[in-house]
Amino acid sequence: MFPLAKKAAIVTGGAAGIGLAITQRFIAAGAVVMIADRRAEGAEIARAANAEFFKVDVSEEANVAMMFDMALERFGRVDILVNNAGIQPLGVGFAGLTDELLRRTLDVNVNSVAFGIKHAQRALVDAGRVINIASFVGLTATPGGAAYSTSKAAVIHLTKLGAIELAPRRITVNAISPGTILTPAVTGIADNPEIPFIQRRTPLGRLGQPEEVAALAHFLASDEAAYITGQNIAIDGGLTAGWTEYELAPPANVQGGRWVDDL
Ligand SMILES: NC(=O)c1ccc[n+]([C@@H]2O[C@H](COP(=O)([O-])OP(=O)(O)OC[C@H]3O[C@@H](n4cnc5c(N)ncnc54)[C@H](O)[C@@H]3O)[C@@H](O)[C@H]2O)c1
Repeated sequence: MFPLAKKAAIVTGGAAGIGLAITQRFIAAGAVVMIADRRAEGAEIARAANAEFFKVDVSEEANVAMMFDMALERFGRVDILVNNAGIQPLGVGFAGLTDELLRRTLDVNVNSVAFGIKHAQRALVDAGRVINIASFVGLTATPGGAAYSTSKAAVIHLTKLGAIELAPRRITVNAISPGTILTPAVTGIADNPEIPFIQRRTPLGRLGQPEEVAALAHFLASDEAAYITGQNIAIDGGLTAGWTEYELAPPANVQGGRWVDDL
């Protein structure tokens, strides 16, 4: 289902977590993929996944331009760009915010997406796909999100802007907003308090798997998703749909399953 045969993709931050799961899923669907990541072990990881590798820091526009040129040289075309690379400085509120942290977060999480969309406009084929990985914290204010949540809210808006500018070439631009997903960024923190906290608050009662995000990216990358653009799709077990707990006593007007207007 949803074949990606003959399609060429770039997945930024594809050497770990969600990006690696997307890379593997695209390859299984028949695509060729170039992982663009700054990790030193990236080449080895890409080889194991049967992907190409380009070492890059996506916060720099010149690097993003080179990433496209390299993919065009290797594949002859680029159909899909997944702007997934990101850093996650959660737990830093305004009191702890520094100029350096804010700048680096916006450079990596926002500038990379803006430059990715800019160069996708010249380098992607007609009817190509741009998929931006945002986050549930870009949709709802969470404490300690001064830099990170701000960056992800910007990604959601950049997605809409990109969608309207690239629409004349039938290139779709969509965002995916995952809830908390079990990737190294989350599981790598010893006794990460975020895990039980999010589990308790999520209506479906668990965290997500990178493969579940990859399945959504796969659909958005496919020909079948041609009429979806400018959207942000949450994949979060219901976390942004509502609360798991809200203890309320009904008002006196509710009596025996009926609403009594005048008491
Ligand atoms: N894991 C979650 O719970 C979660 C939830 C919502 C959104 N997200 C978002 O999903 C994306 C992937 O997250 P993850 O959990 O898989 O992260 P991860 O830390 O496991 O992997 C991120 C990858 O991006 C690469 N990267 C980081 N900065 C880069 C840069 N400047 N240039 C090139 N590559 C760079 C890293 O080397 C790494 O391979 C991020 O944008 C993140 O904000 C993650």
